[in-house]
Amino acid sequence: MASACGGGMPAQVCAGVLLVTLGFCISTASAAALKPEAALENGWAMINHSMALVQRMEALLVQGNGSDVSLRVQTINSDEVKVIQAHTLILSLHSEVFEELLQSRNASTLILKEPAECAAVFERFIRYLYCGELSVSLDQAIPLHKLASKYRVWALQQGLSLYMRQHMASDSPGGHVVGWYHYAMQTGDLALRDSCLQYLSWNLSSVLQSAEWGSISDDLLLSLLQRSDLVLHSELELFEALEGWINQNQPGGLTAESALRAIRYGMIPPQQLFRLQKQSPLLLKYQEAVHDLLFLAFQFHSAAPQQLAKYFDVNCSIFTPRNYLSPAWGAPWIINNPTRDDRSTSFQTQLGPSGHDSGKRVTWNALFSPRWLPLNMRTPYGDHSAMQPARVDGGGGVTGGAGHGHPRIIVTPATSSADFAGVSFQKTVIVSARQQGKMVVRHVYNFHQSTEETGDFLADADLQRRASEYLIDSSLYLHIVVKPIYHTLVIARK
Ligand SMILES: *[C@@H]1O[C@H](CO)[C@@H](O)[C@H](O)[C@H]1NC(C)=O
Ligand SMILES: *[C@@H]1O[C@H](CO)[C@@H](O)[C@H](O)[C@H]1NC(C)=O
Ligand SMILES: *[C@@H]1O[C@H](CO)[C@@H](O)[C@H](O)[C@H]1NC(C)=O
Ligand SMILES: *[C@@H]1O[C@H](CO)[C@@H](O)[C@H](O)[C@H]1NC(C)=O
Ligand SMILES: *[C@@H]1O[C@H](CO)[C@@H](O)[C@H](O)[C@H]1NC(C)=O
Repeated sequence: MASACGGGMPAQVCAGVLLVTLGFCISTASAAALKPEAALENGWAMINHSMALVQRMEALLVQGNGSDVSLRVQTINSDEVKVIQAHTLILSLHSEVFEELLQSRNASTLILKEPAECAAVFERFIRYLYCGELSVSLDQAIPLHKLASKYRVWALQQGLSLYMRQHMASDSPGGHVVGWYHYAMQTGDLALRDSCLQYLSWNLSSVLQSAEWGSISDDLLLSLLQRSDLVLHSELELFEALEGWINQNQPGGLTAESALRAIRYGMIPPQQLFRLQKQSPLLLKYQEAVHDLLFLAFQFHSAAPQQLAKYFDVNCSIFTPRNYLSPAWGAPWIINNPTRDDRSTSFQTQLGPSGHDSGKRVTWNALFSPRWLPLNMRTPYGDHSAMQPARVDGGGGVTGGAGHGHPRIIVTPATSSADFAGVSFQKTVIVSARQQGKMVVRHVYNFHQSTEETGDFLADADLQRRASEYLIDSSLYLHIVVKPIYHTLVIARK
């Protein structure tokens, strides 16, 4: 594999990087195969001029030396024109689209027509082709992504998709995630679409309060309203945000009706439902469209769920809670130095959302273990101690095979579960992490009793590492939500 460059050749011949020994040099391809330590020991050294190479390439573009094609970038619907002196070899190297255009041209000028937003970043796009680097801001991501897609510069396109997926939480005056979602839908970028949907769903409370909320399309609104994994304060908060959206966007009657029918009225306490029914201009206007749902919600509030289940199908979305952060449904849990030792907490939730149960509370005990081992992985003589030496933990304690366990939370009722009359409780742990300096919901784990059921609880959190993005001031930020689910009642009836 080693291709000799010949003694004394300038380092820039290869990718700007050469590994040199006495008398000869080999290309980076084989240099990469050598372990760095081994390489240095035997008198090998790295001469690395990649930075200088990038500067030379940039100068080549700026000064246009040896240019064999002139790109004339015309802004569509405008007189604006930009001319860039370029090199066919470099353009063709990255882009088969450029290669074809350059082959079929019959003059020294290539005319390119671009919309204004793309024309504005065109020079930076070409600079990327020369230098292989690009700094990007939130508002330039889409125009650059459009150019990368149009000219089929796949590496750049993927880099920009990744950039967008990682910058959902960044600050921008009017918000950018909704715009990215709509763009992802147009282009069929499913990974980007899903990232946007997940961000919007899991940080819905902040989205509802932002200017961005008004800008979401009918389709996005309806797909959000259908989700059970929305993280928000309460269903009432969602209803009020929907009122705002409808007032601002004045959608057609059909959209307004579908949206109003996606509100889970059973999750709104009856006192608040009465008020909405009498005072919300929107509900008054669409009374006909939702009155069956309101009626069902009031029935739900008036009796015990198991009684209702004798007569009605309770397995429908109106009775299915979302991830509500209000205190009736769960509690935040901030665990300082989570890897240190096991922690426990307890909190209360309401027995159920039905008005019939409004006075009843359930006390829950939660236990967090940072390094829990399943029973079948423990040895009779202490964890793994027979197989490997005990490891001394950072805290000074000797913990046998500690590194092999993984985090676990179990949530159990403090009182006998016989009192719950067939209602099963789904537990959800919402995990926040830091992204661009902000708290974002990164994971939502659903389980019945133990996070073992999910299999991947905090699998990528790497809590041992001080710099883990899951540690905010060395604490793990969790929120536990407990959701009564009535499916079991449906089965019991059959
Ligand atoms: C060469 O240097 C640049 C920056 O100076 C660095 O990013 C790159 O990783 C280096 N290449 C190698 C092969 O060490
Ligand atoms: C481009 O040409 C000018 C003179 O025409 C020269 O001074 C400059 O060094 C050249 N630049 C490169 C990158 O070769
Ligand atoms: C090539 O030349 C022909 C006529 O000479 C002209 O009609 C055509 O537009 C030119 N094509 C390009 C790509 O400039
Ligand atoms: C995301 O949602 C969580 C929980 O609602 C909130 O604490 C956090 O501030 C939100 N982050 C952003 C960037 O909106
Ligand atoms: C409840 O409804 C969902 C979807 O509507 C369905 O997937 C699920 O099987 C139903 N569960 C029961 C217990 O009927």
